[in-house]
Amino acid sequence: MGRIDQYWAMLKQKGTFRSAASVLRRLGLIRHGFRAYEHIVAAKEVWGQKRDPAQEVADGLPLPPPDMRVMVAGTQHVGWFLSFGATMLETIRDTVASRGAAVETFDEILDFGCGCGRVLRHWPKLIDAHGSSLKVSGTDYNPRLYDWCRRNLPFAGLSLNKAAPPLGYADDRFDLIYSISVFTHLAADLQVAWMRELHRICKPGGYVLVTTHGDSFRAGLNDVEGAAYDRGELVLRFEEASGMNLCNAFHPDAYVREVLSRGFSVEVFVGVGERDGIYQDIWLLRKNA
Ligand SMILES: C[S@@+](CC[C@H](N)C(=O)[O-])C[C@H]1O[C@@H](n2cnc3c(N)ncnc32)[C@H](O)[C@@H]1O
Repeated sequence: MGRIDQYWAMLKQKGTFRSAASVLRRLGLIRHGFRAYEHIVAAKEVWGQKRDPAQEVADGLPLPPPDMRVMVAGTQHVGWFLSFGATMLETIRDTVASRGAAVETFDEILDFGCGCGRVLRHWPKLIDAHGSSLKVSGTDYNPRLYDWCRRNLPFAGLSLNKAAPPLGYADDRFDLIYSISVFTHLAADLQVAWMRELHRICKPGGYVLVTTHGDSFRAGLNDVEGAAYDRGELVLRFEEASGMNLCNAFHPDAYVREVLSRGFSVEVFVGVGERDGIYQDIWLLRKNA
Protein backbone atom coordinates (compact mmCIF):
# COMPACT_ATOMS: atom_id res chain seq x y z
CA MET A 1 0.00 0.00 0.00
CA GLY A 2 1.45 3.40 -0.98
CA ARG A 3 1.73 6.27 1.48
CA ILE A 4 -1.28 8.11 0.02
CA ASP A 5 -3.40 4.98 0.37
CA GLN A 6 -2.29 4.64 4.01
CA TYR A 7 -3.25 8.24 4.86
CA TRP A 8 -6.53 7.71 3.02
CA ALA A 9 -7.36 4.52 4.93
CA MET A 10 -6.63 6.40 8.20
CA LEU A 11 -8.87 9.32 7.25
CA LYS A 12 -11.71 6.99 6.28
CA GLN A 13 -11.74 5.24 9.65
CA LYS A 14 -14.93 6.18 11.48
CA GLY A 15 -13.07 7.24 14.66
CA THR A 16 -10.65 9.51 12.78
CA PHE A 17 -13.47 11.09 10.80
CA ARG A 18 -15.46 11.73 13.99
CA SER A 19 -12.53 13.26 15.89
CA ALA A 20 -11.62 15.51 12.96
CA ALA A 21 -15.28 16.53 12.67
CA SER A 22 -15.58 17.36 16.36
CA VAL A 23 -12.44 19.54 16.29
CA LEU A 24 -13.67 21.37 13.19
CA ARG A 25 -17.07 21.76 14.80
CA ARG A 26 -15.57 23.43 17.88
CA LEU A 27 -13.58 25.77 15.62
CA GLY A 28 -16.71 26.62 13.60
CA LEU A 29 -14.99 25.26 10.48
CA ILE A 30 -17.10 22.19 9.84
CA ARG A 31 -18.50 23.39 6.50
CA HIS A 32 -15.05 24.35 5.18
CA GLY A 33 -13.61 21.10 6.49
CA PHE A 34 -16.24 19.02 4.71
CA ARG A 35 -15.73 20.85 1.41
CA ALA A 36 -12.00 20.16 1.73
CA TYR A 37 -12.80 16.50 2.42
CA GLU A 38 -14.92 16.34 -0.76
CA HIS A 39 -12.00 17.75 -2.78
CA ILE A 40 -9.71 15.11 -1.28
CA VAL A 41 -12.20 12.34 -2.15
CA ALA A 42 -12.34 13.61 -5.74
CA ALA A 43 -8.56 13.90 -6.06
CA LYS A 44 -7.95 10.50 -4.47
CA GLU A 45 -10.50 8.77 -6.68
CA VAL A 46 -9.22 10.38 -9.86
CA TRP A 47 -5.56 9.90 -8.98
CA GLY A 48 -3.99 7.10 -10.97
CA GLN A 49 -7.34 6.06 -12.40
CA LYS A 50 -7.61 4.98 -16.02
CA ARG A 51 -10.05 6.95 -18.11
CA ASP A 52 -13.55 5.85 -17.16
CA PRO A 53 -15.18 4.25 -20.24
CA ALA A 54 -18.49 5.86 -19.26
CA GLN A 55 -16.91 9.19 -20.20
CA GLU A 56 -16.84 8.04 -23.83
CA VAL A 57 -20.56 7.29 -23.87
CA ALA A 58 -21.59 10.57 -22.30
CA ASP A 59 -24.76 12.09 -23.69
CA GLY A 60 -23.11 14.85 -25.70
CA LEU A 61 -23.22 17.20 -22.72
CA PRO A 62 -20.09 18.11 -20.77
CA LEU A 63 -19.38 16.35 -17.50
CA PRO A 64 -19.12 18.42 -14.33
CA PRO A 65 -15.66 18.30 -12.71
CA PRO A 66 -14.90 15.51 -10.20
CA ASP A 67 -15.32 17.62 -7.05
CA MET A 68 -18.81 18.66 -8.15
CA ARG A 69 -19.73 15.05 -8.80
CA VAL A 70 -18.55 14.22 -5.27
CA MET A 71 -20.66 17.08 -3.86
CA VAL A 72 -23.86 15.56 -5.24
CA ALA A 73 -23.09 11.85 -5.30
CA GLY A 74 -20.38 11.27 -2.67
CA THR A 75 -18.15 9.84 -5.41
CA GLN A 76 -16.77 11.27 -8.64
CA HIS A 77 -17.46 7.99 -10.50
CA VAL A 78 -18.72 8.98 -13.96
CA GLY A 79 -20.66 5.80 -14.71
CA TRP A 80 -22.55 6.09 -11.43
CA PHE A 81 -23.23 9.81 -11.94
CA LEU A 82 -24.73 9.19 -15.39
CA SER A 83 -26.61 5.98 -14.68
CA PHE A 84 -28.12 7.16 -11.40
CA GLY A 85 -29.43 10.34 -13.06
CA ALA A 86 -31.00 8.37 -15.92
CA THR A 87 -32.54 5.80 -13.55
CA MET A 88 -33.88 8.55 -11.32
CA LEU A 89 -35.55 10.32 -14.22
CA GLU A 90 -37.17 7.05 -15.34
CA THR A 91 -38.35 6.53 -11.76
CA ILE A 92 -39.84 10.03 -11.59
CA ARG A 93 -41.64 9.45 -14.89
CA ASP A 94 -42.97 6.04 -13.84
CA THR A 95 -44.03 7.19 -10.37
CA VAL A 96 -46.07 10.04 -11.86
CA ALA A 97 -47.44 7.66 -14.52
CA SER A 98 -48.64 5.31 -11.79
CA ARG A 99 -51.16 8.05 -10.88
CA GLY A 100 -52.37 8.31 -14.47
CA ALA A 101 -50.37 11.44 -15.41
CA ALA A 102 -47.66 11.74 -18.08
CA VAL A 103 -44.71 14.07 -17.48
CA GLU A 104 -44.36 14.62 -21.24
CA THR A 105 -47.72 16.39 -21.26
CA PHE A 106 -46.78 18.82 -18.48
CA ASP A 107 -45.98 22.49 -19.17
CA GLU A 108 -43.28 23.12 -16.59
CA ILE A 109 -41.12 21.06 -14.28
CA LEU A 110 -38.64 22.24 -11.62
CA ASP A 111 -35.63 20.38 -10.20
CA PHE A 112 -35.23 21.87 -6.70
CA GLY A 113 -31.62 21.43 -5.50
CA CYS A 114 -30.51 20.42 -9.00
CA GLY A 115 -26.81 20.26 -8.07
CA CYS A 116 -24.67 19.88 -11.20
CA GLY A 117 -27.57 18.47 -13.21
CA ARG A 118 -27.26 14.74 -12.47
CA VAL A 119 -30.98 14.26 -13.19
CA LEU A 120 -31.69 17.48 -15.11
CA ARG A 121 -29.27 16.60 -17.93
CA HIS A 122 -31.41 13.61 -18.98
CA TRP A 123 -34.63 15.51 -19.75
CA PRO A 124 -33.79 16.41 -23.41
CA LYS A 125 -33.83 12.70 -24.41
CA LEU A 126 -37.32 12.28 -22.98
CA ILE A 127 -38.58 15.59 -24.38
CA ASP A 128 -37.19 14.84 -27.87
CA ALA A 129 -38.55 11.30 -27.87
CA HIS A 130 -42.09 12.61 -27.25
CA GLY A 131 -41.88 15.86 -29.24
CA SER A 132 -42.93 17.48 -25.97
CA SER A 133 -43.05 21.24 -25.38
CA LEU A 134 -42.26 20.75 -21.71
CA LYS A 135 -39.97 23.39 -20.12
CA VAL A 136 -37.54 22.26 -17.44
CA SER A 137 -35.90 24.47 -14.84
CA GLY A 138 -33.44 23.89 -12.05
CA THR A 139 -32.50 25.84 -8.96
CA ASP A 140 -29.78 25.38 -6.35
CA TYR A 141 -28.31 27.49 -3.55
CA ASN A 142 -24.70 26.59 -4.36
CA PRO A 143 -23.30 29.24 -6.76
CA ARG A 144 -20.69 26.92 -8.30
CA LEU A 145 -23.21 24.18 -9.10
CA TYR A 146 -25.73 26.72 -10.40
CA ASP A 147 -23.09 28.36 -12.57
CA TRP A 148 -21.96 25.03 -14.04
CA CYS A 149 -25.54 24.14 -15.00
CA ARG A 150 -26.17 27.61 -16.44
CA ARG A 151 -23.13 27.32 -18.69
CA ASN A 152 -23.52 23.67 -19.70
CA LEU A 153 -27.22 22.76 -19.77
CA PRO A 154 -28.58 25.34 -22.20
CA PHE A 155 -32.01 23.68 -22.53
CA ALA A 156 -32.88 24.38 -18.86
CA GLY A 157 -33.87 27.61 -17.11
CA LEU A 158 -31.52 27.99 -14.13
CA SER A 159 -31.84 30.01 -10.93
CA LEU A 160 -29.66 30.54 -7.90
CA ASN A 161 -31.63 30.63 -4.65
CA LYS A 162 -30.76 31.45 -1.03
CA ALA A 163 -30.47 28.81 1.70
CA ALA A 164 -33.96 29.77 2.89
CA PRO A 165 -37.10 30.58 0.84
CA PRO A 166 -38.46 32.27 -1.17
CA LEU A 167 -37.79 31.29 -4.77
CA GLY A 168 -38.33 33.83 -7.53
CA TYR A 169 -41.12 31.83 -9.22
CA ALA A 170 -44.79 32.86 -9.35
CA ASP A 171 -47.47 31.04 -7.35
CA ASP A 172 -49.02 27.90 -8.92
CA ARG A 173 -46.45 27.68 -11.74
CA PHE A 174 -45.13 24.10 -11.92
CA ASP A 175 -46.90 20.85 -12.79
CA LEU A 176 -44.14 18.87 -11.09
CA ILE A 177 -41.33 19.79 -8.72
CA TYR A 178 -38.87 17.09 -7.78
CA SER A 179 -36.13 17.25 -5.22
CA ILE A 180 -33.69 14.35 -5.15
CA SER A 181 -31.46 13.85 -2.13
CA VAL A 182 -32.07 17.40 -0.87
CA PHE A 183 -34.46 17.05 2.09
CA THR A 184 -32.09 14.30 3.24
CA HIS A 185 -29.53 17.06 3.91
CA LEU A 186 -31.56 19.98 5.27
CA ALA A 187 -31.96 21.39 8.80
CA ALA A 188 -35.36 20.80 10.42
CA ASP A 189 -36.75 24.35 10.15
CA LEU A 190 -35.64 24.59 6.50
CA GLN A 191 -37.40 21.35 5.61
CA VAL A 192 -40.74 22.74 6.69
CA ALA A 193 -40.08 26.16 5.16
CA TRP A 194 -39.04 24.68 1.81
CA MET A 195 -42.02 22.33 1.61
CA ARG A 196 -44.28 25.32 2.17
CA GLU A 197 -42.44 27.17 -0.62
CA LEU A 198 -42.68 24.22 -3.04
CA HIS A 199 -46.39 24.08 -2.21
CA ARG A 200 -46.73 27.77 -3.15
CA ILE A 201 -45.14 27.39 -6.61
CA CYS A 202 -46.83 24.06 -7.46
CA LYS A 203 -50.05 24.18 -9.51
CA PRO A 204 -53.20 23.11 -7.62
CA GLY A 205 -53.47 19.41 -8.45
CA GLY A 206 -49.76 19.37 -9.38
CA TYR A 207 -47.08 17.07 -7.93
CA VAL A 208 -44.08 17.37 -5.65
CA LEU A 209 -41.70 14.39 -5.48
CA VAL A 210 -39.10 14.22 -2.71
CA THR A 211 -36.70 11.56 -1.49
CA THR A 212 -35.96 10.73 2.15
CA HIS A 213 -33.87 8.41 4.32
CA GLY A 214 -36.49 6.18 5.93
CA ASP A 215 -36.75 2.74 7.53
CA SER A 216 -33.91 1.24 5.51
CA PHE A 217 -31.53 3.59 7.39
CA ARG A 218 -33.02 2.79 10.84
CA ALA A 219 -30.41 0.10 11.61
CA GLY A 220 -27.57 2.63 11.22
CA LEU A 221 -28.92 4.99 13.90
CA ASN A 222 -27.50 5.00 17.43
CA ASP A 223 -29.75 4.30 20.46
CA VAL A 224 -30.76 7.92 21.06
CA GLU A 225 -31.39 8.58 17.38
CA GLY A 226 -33.25 5.29 16.97
CA ALA A 227 -35.56 6.03 19.90
CA ALA A 228 -36.41 9.46 18.45
CA TYR A 229 -36.98 7.91 15.03
CA ASP A 230 -39.35 5.33 16.55
CA ARG A 231 -41.32 8.16 18.20
CA GLY A 232 -41.86 9.58 14.71
CA GLU A 233 -39.37 12.44 15.11
CA LEU A 234 -37.04 13.75 12.44
CA VAL A 235 -33.44 12.74 13.24
CA LEU A 236 -30.60 15.02 12.16
CA ARG A 237 -26.83 14.71 12.15
CA PHE A 238 -24.58 17.76 11.65
CA GLU A 239 -27.53 20.11 11.32
CA GLU A 240 -25.09 23.06 11.21
CA ALA A 241 -23.88 21.74 7.84
CA SER A 242 -27.41 22.00 6.39
CA GLY A 243 -27.38 21.76 2.60
CA MET A 244 -24.18 19.67 2.49
CA ASN A 245 -23.99 15.88 2.41
CA LEU A 246 -22.42 15.89 5.88
CA CYS A 247 -25.82 16.88 7.27
CA ASN A 248 -28.05 13.82 7.22
CA ALA A 249 -31.77 13.73 7.94
CA PHE A 250 -33.71 10.55 8.69
CA HIS A 251 -37.47 10.70 8.14
CA PRO A 252 -39.87 8.33 9.87
CA ASP A 253 -43.05 7.65 7.92
CA ALA A 254 -45.18 9.57 10.45
CA TYR A 255 -43.01 12.70 10.14
CA VAL A 256 -43.42 12.80 6.36
CA ARG A 257 -47.16 12.16 6.53
CA GLU A 258 -47.96 14.51 9.41
CA VAL A 259 -45.42 17.32 9.08
CA LEU A 260 -43.60 17.46 5.77
CA SER A 261 -46.55 16.81 3.48
CA ARG A 262 -48.96 19.34 5.00
CA GLY A 263 -51.20 20.78 2.27
CA PHE A 264 -50.54 17.78 0.02
CA SER A 265 -52.02 14.33 -0.26
CA VAL A 266 -49.57 11.41 -0.27
CA GLU A 267 -50.13 9.73 -3.64
CA VAL A 268 -47.31 7.19 -3.88
CA PHE A 269 -44.61 5.86 -1.60
CA VAL A 270 -41.76 3.85 -3.13
CA GLY A 271 -39.54 2.33 -0.45
CA VAL A 272 -35.86 1.50 -0.87
CA GLY A 273 -35.56 -1.88 -2.57
CA GLU A 274 -38.72 -1.50 -4.64
CA ARG A 275 -36.79 -0.13 -7.63
CA ASP A 276 -33.31 -1.12 -8.74
CA GLY A 277 -30.67 1.55 -8.31
CA ILE A 278 -32.70 3.81 -5.98
CA TYR A 279 -31.31 4.14 -2.45
CA GLN A 280 -33.72 6.60 -0.85
CA ASP A 281 -37.46 6.44 -0.26
CA ILE A 282 -39.59 8.32 -2.77
CA TRP A 283 -42.72 10.28 -1.91
CA LEU A 284 -45.03 11.57 -4.59
CA LEU A 285 -47.27 14.26 -3.12
CA ARG A 286 -50.13 16.11 -4.77
CA LYS A 287 -51.11 19.68 -3.97
CA ASN A 288 -54.72 19.78 -2.95
CA ALA A 289 -56.74 21.38 -5.72
C1 LIG B 1 -26.93 15.45 -2.57
S1 LIG B 1 -27.03 16.82 -3.60
C2 LIG B 1 -28.20 16.27 -4.82
C3 LIG B 1 -28.20 17.13 -6.06
C4 LIG B 1 -29.19 16.70 -7.13
N1 LIG B 1 -30.54 16.79 -6.67
C5 LIG B 1 -28.86 15.31 -7.58
O1 LIG B 1 -29.64 14.38 -7.33
O2 LIG B 1 -27.80 15.14 -8.17
C6 LIG B 1 -27.97 17.99 -2.65
C7 LIG B 1 -28.19 19.28 -3.41
O3 LIG B 1 -29.07 20.12 -2.67
C8 LIG B 1 -28.61 21.44 -2.81
N2 LIG B 1 -29.19 22.24 -1.74
C9 LIG B 1 -28.97 22.15 -0.42
N3 LIG B 1 -29.67 23.10 0.25
C10 LIG B 1 -30.36 23.78 -0.68
C11 LIG B 1 -31.27 24.87 -0.62
N4 LIG B 1 -31.59 25.46 0.53
N5 LIG B 1 -31.78 25.32 -1.78
C12 LIG B 1 -31.47 24.73 -2.96
N6 LIG B 1 -30.62 23.72 -3.07
C13 LIG B 1 -30.07 23.23 -1.94
C14 LIG B 1 -27.10 21.30 -2.73
O4 LIG B 1 -26.41 22.43 -3.18
C15 LIG B 1 -26.90 20.07 -3.61
O5 LIG B 1 -26.80 20.42 -4.95
